[in-house]
Amino acid sequence: MRVPPDTVSLADYERHFHARIEPGIRAYIAGAAADGITQQANRDAFDRLRLLPRALADLRGATAHTTLLGQSLDYPLLIGPTAFHKLVDADGELATAQAAALTRTGMVVSAQASVPLEAIAASSPSPLWLQLYLQPARDDTLTLVRRAENAGYQALMVTIDAVVSGVRNIEQRAGFRLPDGVAAVNLQGFRPNAPVVARAGSPVFQGMLANAPTWDDIAWLCRQTTLPVLVKGLLNPADVPRALDAGVAGIVVSNHGGRTLDTVPATIDVLQTIANAVAGRVPLLLDGGIRRGTDIVKALALGANAVMIGQPVLHALAVGGLAGVAHMLTILQTELEIAMALTGAPTVEAIDASLLWNPGGPGTGL
Ligand SMILES: Cc1cc2nc3c(=O)[nH]c(=O)nc-3n(C[C@H](O)[C@H](O)[C@H](O)COP(=O)(O)O)c2cc1C
Repeated sequence: MRVPPDTVSLADYERHFHARIEPGIRAYIAGAAADGITQQANRDAFDRLRLLPRALADLRGATAHTTLLGQSLDYPLLIGPTAFHKLVDADGELATAQAAALTRTGMVVSAQASVPLEAIAASSPSPLWLQLYLQPARDDTLTLVRRAENAGYQALMVTIDAVVSGVRNIEQRAGFRLPDGVAAVNLQGFRPNAPVVARAGSPVFQGMLANAPTWDDIAWLCRQTTLPVLVKGLLNPADVPRALDAGVAGIVVSNHGGRTLDTVPATIDVLQTIANAVAGRVPLLLDGGIRRGTDIVKALALGANAVMIGQPVLHALAVGGLAGVAHMLTILQTELEIAMALTGAPTVEAIDASLLWNPGGPGTGL
């Protein structure tokens, strides 16, 4: 696969992705929930924030290195969990994981990966975490946890904002179906949710949600493993004490890239209130709309310890395979270093709200 020479930013990968990929898969990857208001808000909110640099800071020995849950990271950037990489590349998650290793980037493998999680771990020396959904049967959840432990995964990330699928009209209009040969292979044989009830009761509440998880299930999961357990998809500071009481080791501020509940706020707009509630007790991550190194600086300035990217990984994988993902990650890492240098922040720890202009403006919560 040849990456066009004008591909110099994540937006360029997105443009080439749209030009190349067939409409059904494009709708699945790019499509947000309902009217796409939250997906757009994720971007708009970053664009509204302005940086306020310090000039001539001492940048000798500057580094973007950081530590997260005891793990050393060259950059405060992880590949977030996205399903079915085989939709856009024959090697699927194996290619993504190798690109992660080449660029020394951490990767969170989706529960809905299209390659066995053991094979992904074997293909990559990069630190891997596993994302999972609490399954209707606890035994099935435990099977996934034990497989992740045995394969050397270093953390578990439980997604809590998708107990039911969002209203995915864009996919529905495009008639998206998983093609033959692409499946959630790590969930095969698991007990499904209760069948949708035809007459008696609601297909949502008595069907899909008959076994919906609660915070008690997160507490249960934390007791089942020595791996750190993070929750992904928290937007309301009122849920922070519940997460901490359950024993989580980290929190991901996420709205699933606007793919679950439409019209919730942009993640960067709620980050600071959540950071205040967490008060440094566990690491805080953010995803949703990160497309530039400056976006990473803004997220760190408002309290995140690291960020994750979703769609850009699939864009780059579709356009350039393994090399495309490695190139895209390098672009973002370099942009982050440039943004740190030009704002006068020699370390990740030096990035704080003083680097943002208009501290009373949207997103800053000040
Ligand atoms: C095609 C696609 C598939 C996704 N699959 C999952 C998934 O399996 N599990 C999960 O927790 N999040 C999933 N997400 C959400 C991402 O982890 C992440 O929250 C979101 O993409 C971040 O926003 P961004 O795409 O603007 O970077 C998916 C996102 C996309 C675009």
